[in-house]
Amino acid sequence: MTAPTQQSIRARLVTRYSGDALNGEVWRGEAVDFLRQLDTESASVVFLDPPFNLGKDYSADHPTLDHRPEREYRNWLEEVLAEASRVVTTGGALYLYHLPIWAMRLGTVLEPVLTFRHWIAVSMKNGFVRGRRLYPAHYALLFFTKGVPLSFSRPRLKPQTCRHCGEFVKDYGGYRGIIEEKGINLSDIWDDLSPVRHTNRKFRDANELHPAIFERVLAISGSPGQLYVDPFAGAGAGLLAAARAGMRFQGCDLLAKNCRVISERLNGFRSQK
Ligand SMILES: C[S@@+](CC[C@H](N)C(=O)[O-])C[C@H]1O[C@@H](n2cnc3c(N)ncnc32)[C@H](O)[C@@H]1O
Repeated sequence: MTAPTQQSIRARLVTRYSGDALNGEVWRGEAVDFLRQLDTESASVVFLDPPFNLGKDYSADHPTLDHRPEREYRNWLEEVLAEASRVVTTGGALYLYHLPIWAMRLGTVLEPVLTFRHWIAVSMKNGFVRGRRLYPAHYALLFFTKGVPLSFSRPRLKPQTCRHCGEFVKDYGGYRGIIEEKGINLSDIWDDLSPVRHTNRKFRDANELHPAIFERVLAISGSPGQLYVDPFAGAGAGLLAAARAGMRFQGCDLLAKNCRVISERLNGFRSQK
């Protein structure tokens, strides 16, 4: 008997939450199958953080998860993008986090369907130099919308200060007073948010995205009561951020152990409300 391919794995509902504190569903299974269950134009934010196909061993049950021939991986991602674009509502946002080379390739797939807004550079620490290349220092977070954005807010951040003297790291000249009062506008370079790598700060074995990435994305494009969709939910930081922002959510992960972590975290959030 041959092992099931990822594409043949179905997505099944694991937990449904309905109430004032939490309103959403967690699914286990294949991202494309999960997305197919969602209504067309139902989500105001879809966040995609797929496996990068770098040969990592995520799971003994799914040994080919991150080891696919490039063509197969690309075809699968294109299916994910087609379904994700269908699910985004008019004016809604789609975010895709990936390595720059894949962001470039996949951006061309999204562009005929959605409107490009930003290539956000998110800092990568501890990359390593290969061959005749520069030191890789960022991941790409592509931000597209379906037409004119339904909601858009530009977050303001506290300026970086020196940890020794407490002074601003940058010289803001005559704008210092405004910066002190209002903060700085969020730009398309996020160099303060590297992935969570420390074992005592993460909820699953593999690295997780910095939780503030989701908070910023939802501050920019989310609204209370709207739907957030995360087909590669991992340890669930995106779903938690959505719940905290008062959004409904639909999340999925292929691995049962990740779904358990997500449910535990969501239950913890509900019990604190
Ligand atoms: C890069 S990680 C996402 C991490 C997540 N954003 C976080 O911060 O925890 C990719 C996730 O997708 C899951 N995954 C891999 N292949 C999948 C598939 N075909 N369908 C659904 N989930 C998948 C993996 O188990 C992993 O948790």
